Amino acid sequence: MKRTGSIAAIIGGCFMLHAPAWAESPSQAAMLSNTCAGCHGTSGTSAGPSMPTIAGMPEVYLLESMKKFRSGERPSSIMGRLAKAYSDEEIKMMAEFFARHPFGREKQEVDAAKVAIGKQIHDQRCKKCHMDNGRDSEDSGILAGQWKEYLQISMRDFRSGKRPMPEKMRAKVEGEGKLTPEEVEAVIHFYASQQ
Ligand code: HEC
Ligand code: HEC
Repeated sequence: MKRTGSIAAIIGGCFMLHAPAWAESPSQAAMLSNTCAGCHGTSGTSAGPSMPTIAGMPEVYLLESMKKFRSGERPSSIMGRLAKAYSDEEIKMMAEFFARHPFGREKQEVDAAKVAIGKQIHDQRCKKCHMDNGRDSEDSGILAGQWKEYLQISMRDFRSGKRPMPEKMRAKVEGEGKLTPEEVEAVIHFYASQQ
């Protein structure tokens, strides 16, 4: 009896330690997020190449992205229509769910010369906000190990004005010494090369 009791206490203790914030309704968060799995992978790491991996991104970025898709502020092929089906509360649950999962990285084909040029551009212009070689950020997506094709689409939408670009980022991309298309491609190869 005593032994069973202590095992139960240990199991109970472990559960408490690891219980996530959404533990009150884990099935609801998981169920909602399941509808994203076909494109973004079961826990947010997608099989690429134009479907971004969304796991491990800052919760605030996931939340804001969904709201911008829903309002049409951010252009999309699919997400705008999809996001309209969810309430603020449901979006928050999904953002929490994906933010907790690790961002998975697969090896992508990159050009070593472009990676080297891209690294310099990153160090000079991007690392202040896209920290740790694009792995870490307070309020933007994760760039390190993101799918190359998705990054190309993102940069194209930013530069054409279709997707609103944060003003301070615009200064680094379009401002003094404006990046050439080759330089943008190089920095994308640099991020895609991160494992
Ligand atoms: C049919 C495929 C599909 C499904 C299902 C889908 N997505 Fe997406 N998602 C995309 C594509 C494609 C993009 C790029 C934007 C676009 O073109 O719509 C994207 C972009 C995103 C982004 C922006 C990522 C970034 O780095 O900025 C977020 C966040 C996101 N999706 C969340 C979700 C959530 C949450 C769900 C489930 C409710 C979901 N998606 C379901 C295809 C899908
Ligand atoms: C002052 C901060 C800042 C700087 C500097 C900056 N960025 Fe960003 N970046 C952001 C923010 C914030 C976002 C999120 C924008 C949004 O919400 O749509 C972002 C988003 C992005 C995205 C889209 C990510 C996604 O998942 O869709 C790419 C790609 C990107 N930045 C590349 C760059 C590159 C390349 C540079 C350097 C030339 C750079 N950024 C410099 C703040 C910055």
